[in-house]
Amino acid sequence: MASKGNGRGLDLARQKMRDAGVDEVAIDTFAHYYRLLEHGETGMIAEDTIEPLDMEALADVVVPDDVAAEAIGKTAVIKLNGGLGTSMGMDRAKSLLCVRRGLSFLDIIARQVLHLRQQYGVTLPLMFMNSFRTSADTMAALERYDDLAVDGLPLEFLQNKEPKLLAADLMPAAYPKAPDLEWCPPGHGDIYTALRGTGLLARLQDAGYRYVFVSNSDNLGAVPDARVAGWFAQSGAPFAIEAVRRTPSDRKGGHFARRKSDGRIVLRETAQTPDQDKEALADLDRHRYCSTNNLWFDIEAMTSTLDARGGILGLPLIKNVKHLDPADPSTPEVIQVETAMGAAIEVFEGATTIEVGRDRFVPVKTTDDLLVLRSDVYDLGKDFVLDQAGDEVPYVSLDGDFYKLVGDFDKRFPEGAPSLREAGSFTVEGDWTFGRGVKVVGEVSLESRAAQRVEGGTVLDEQEQHA
Ligand code: UTP
Repeated sequence: MASKGNGRGLDLARQKMRDAGVDEVAIDTFAHYYRLLEHGETGMIAEDTIEPLDMEALADVVVPDDVAAEAIGKTAVIKLNGGLGTSMGMDRAKSLLCVRRGLSFLDIIARQVLHLRQQYGVTLPLMFMNSFRTSADTMAALERYDDLAVDGLPLEFLQNKEPKLLAADLMPAAYPKAPDLEWCPPGHGDIYTALRGTGLLARLQDAGYRYVFVSNSDNLGAVPDARVAGWFAQSGAPFAIEAVRRTPSDRKGGHFARRKSDGRIVLRETAQTPDQDKEALADLDRHRYCSTNNLWFDIEAMTSTLDARGGILGLPLIKNVKHLDPADPSTPEVIQVETAMGAAIEVFEGATTIEVGRDRFVPVKTTDDLLVLRSDVYDLGKDFVLDQAGDEVPYVSLDGDFYKLVGDFDKRFPEGAPSLREAGSFTVEGDWTFGRGVKVVGEVSLESRAAQRVEGGTVLDEQEQHA
């Protein structure tokens, strides 16, 4: 594909970053991806260049208790918290949302870590990677945990920022009305650049830590579990990602594979799959595993690899096209140059994967997911770990017109989530509001053209309701 860019776009973007005080390596990293974009890089991974990846399951691995305890003592925890939850209509970190009993994602993450520190007698530092958009709110919410920061390490570090580029000519976009919207975070692949640029990687190593566990703050299943830490330490791998078996709902998403040319493990996303290979992408028997974005790396291996590459890991480019003001479709289309953290797996020789249970993968991407998390499908134990009540998590599908945005969703469940423990599926079409203590049993589907209210205490039993 021919380039639309010109040298001037990159020069202006660089200058803009410099004026804003962005770290030099982050500017070089941005320039690297800008050039890929200019050259029409697509990052496509054809089916005939990869083969399916098989892996062992954590449940089958023997991890002696002393190995687990030693490994967790050398682990630092990072939560990715720079995203804005735009798919749920948010312009703040998703982790500020309340999950239950007045506890937000942030509260639960903090308490999981505090509990593990006590259980194992370890320091287990916790840090949040925030973006310029999520930092202030997150730090204010964490203020009450005055014992959370340890070893002179900060509770947060900031990821870099980069200019949004006009899709038409790759020039940095200008928006004097709201200059903040001229910038975006460069995706979570920026974690490596940010850790090195802030000097934190070196500080962790100096303080005697060996392993870093990174996961999304919207996945409360991603507990820094000692057994997983022990497995990683025992594997001797420089880098690892926890995987789960793909289910029919993951059919359109990415998967792990092995690259034929060099035997490296790669992650192939939907956007990197040529049209003729979409069938293979959707084949759950062929490509059986997808990523949880729960990731482990060896600090020394990361440092030496970054150093050898001038600080640029060279991850596959993700071209994210949005509107300059995401809330205003009349503003021009822009490109946000992004990378994904997990894609670094292909950079490390000897990187590995492990199959974990679904309990380590409870992502909240939509209000459907949020409803399940807020319901009695999960108990929260004394260790603040989610405990799934039944064998299966119910399938929930709420009408996008009334529930997609978290504000609209909250208005329709003002008294909290219904009981879903005995539900197989719960489908809602139309505008329904729910009272306190509603219970869903079996397969329930509600449909209505007019606004409806389900009174408190109602048991919605296996039925279809058309109102
Ligand atoms: P997602 O892209 O799934 O979530 O990122 P999001 O950005 O919060 O939500 P949408 O897509 O806008 O609706 C997965 C994790 O990576 C973090 C997010 O905070 C989330 O925990 N993230 C994402 C970053 O830390 N930085 C980024 O630049 C992007």
